[in-house]
Amino acid sequence: MGRITFIEHSGTAHVVEIEAGQSLMQAAVDNGIPGIDADCGGACACGTCHVIVDEQWIDATGGINADEQGMLGLTPEITDTSRLSCQVTLSEALDGLIVRLPEFQM
Ligand code: FES
Repeated sequence: MGRITFIEHSGTAHVVEIEAGQSLMQAAVDNGIPGIDADCGGACACGTCHVIVDEQWIDATGGINADEQGMLGLTPEITDTSRLSCQVTLSEALDGLIVRLPEFQM
C-alpha cells in the first residue's frame, strides 16, 4: 500500500512496506524495528511503543484519546508530536510517514 520510515535515535533509518488497517506499532514489530517493545500488545497500557511523529505528519495520524494522552504522560521524552504507535491506524493518507524513536527505548 505504501511505505513509512522509522528513524532510530542514532539516525539509522528503516523504510518498511505497510498495509492499510494495521497499526503503526504492528508495522514496526513485523519489521523488527528496534525500540518498539509493545509489551502490552497494543492495549494502550505500557507506553513502550512511543514514537515521535515528524511534524508535517502529526495531523494525519489522527486524534489522541484520553487513554493515550494519559499513558504518554508517563513516558520519558514526550514531545508535542509524540504518539503511541499502537494507537495509529495506517491508511493511504499515511504513505510516506516519518517517525523517530526516542532514546529511552533503545
Ligand atoms: S503497545 Fe503498549 S501502549 Fe502501545
